[in-house]
Amino acid sequence: MLIQMAAKHASLKLMFFTGFLLIQETVNGQEENAAFQHTATQSSMYGTWYSENAVDGVRDSCSHTNTQTDPWWRVDLMKVYRVNRVAITNRQSSYSEIASRINGAVIRVGNIPDIYSNPICAVVSTIPSGATASFSCGGIEGRYVTVHIPGNGKVLTLCEVEVYGYLGDGAATQSSTFGNWFSEKAIDGNRGLLQLYTGCSSTLNETNPWWRVDLRYIYRVSEVVVTNRKDCCAEQINGVEIRIGNSLESNGNNNPICAVIPAIPAGESYSYSCAGMDGRYVNLIIPGDMKMLTLCEVEVYGEGPVLKRSFVKMQFNSRVGSALAARGFTNVTLRWSQTPKREVKRKYSGNQHCL
Ligand SMILES: *[C@@H]1O[C@H](CO)[C@@H](O)[C@H](O)[C@H]1NC(C)=O
Ligand SMILES: *[C@@H]1O[C@H](CO)[C@@H](O)[C@H](O)[C@H]1NC(C)=O
Repeated sequence: MLIQMAAKHASLKLMFFTGFLLIQETVNGQEENAAFQHTATQSSMYGTWYSENAVDGVRDSCSHTNTQTDPWWRVDLMKVYRVNRVAITNRQSSYSEIASRINGAVIRVGNIPDIYSNPICAVVSTIPSGATASFSCGGIEGRYVTVHIPGNGKVLTLCEVEVYGYLGDGAATQSSTFGNWFSEKAIDGNRGLLQLYTGCSSTLNETNPWWRVDLRYIYRVSEVVVTNRKDCCAEQINGVEIRIGNSLESNGNNNPICAVIPAIPAGESYSYSCAGMDGRYVNLIIPGDMKMLTLCEVEVYGEGPVLKRSFVKMQFNSRVGSALAARGFTNVTLRWSQTPKREVKRKYSGNQHCL
């Protein structure tokens, strides 16, 4: 039974069927709004224009603060996303002074709940009455998205705030990111063929670009399936090394090689046999200058997790015992200075006696 281990965290459904682990992929062609129906708060409330009205999926029910200094609004996405873009829908009004209230709003994304501390994604210059505008955040990581308007006598009204991105749980990473071709897109359960420009990961054009997935546990890998891009430049994949192992030395790129990809035709998925190599990290790297690593899907198949056993044998002979006793130690307790992360089993052999 093959087990697929690398797939987008968010779309994983783990099920145990009579001892087999099955991961159900969700092929999701539609972008999901990460803010939808999450908890929202605002600095003050005008009438019954609740903060949640901006995340209810309805673009004509709005949140609304009172007239105040630095009004703000915030949504808690509950998980850390790499935010690709934020879409804001402005209030519909024939009065230009109402429609222009949004001008100067600052959009921030980050992990700090505080309103003013996270990095700025964008500053709204203006959004026409009732219109929705998209702001690119280039993959800023964050659990909170805040919108605030600096200044006195301001009002913040938001009819919808939509947040699009990828779950940044760090399972996949790469040496650099080209646009929004995030590392996670190579394990999103979508081979990138339907969404030519959104379903693949890509690094910048650089020296020795690499991509890595952390399987979290050590697996015995039987094969790795790589899907190449379809839109152009299929030859860019030529020479990619697939490496598997447990070391993060040199970002994992020193681990043993399973295969070197000679070529993969555009849009095709080729399988490479790794004949049971053990490892927690799977790296793909192209050695050389001016290379770009684009991956539309990387699937890792194998068995596991594999338990690593380490044996620690300690034996005290009577000489050590009497040496200790001579110094006045009669009761010695051994302790770990660093407790092993995994299960520790104790085994006493023979009829040994304690000191
Ligand atoms: C990388 O940049 C160099 C120099 O501009 C260019 O010649 C080369 O074609 C680029 N490679 C890729 C894969 O885009
Ligand atoms: C040795 O020390 C441990 C822990 O302090 C104690 O529980 C135990 O009774 C001691 N044994 C003897 C033989 O003194």
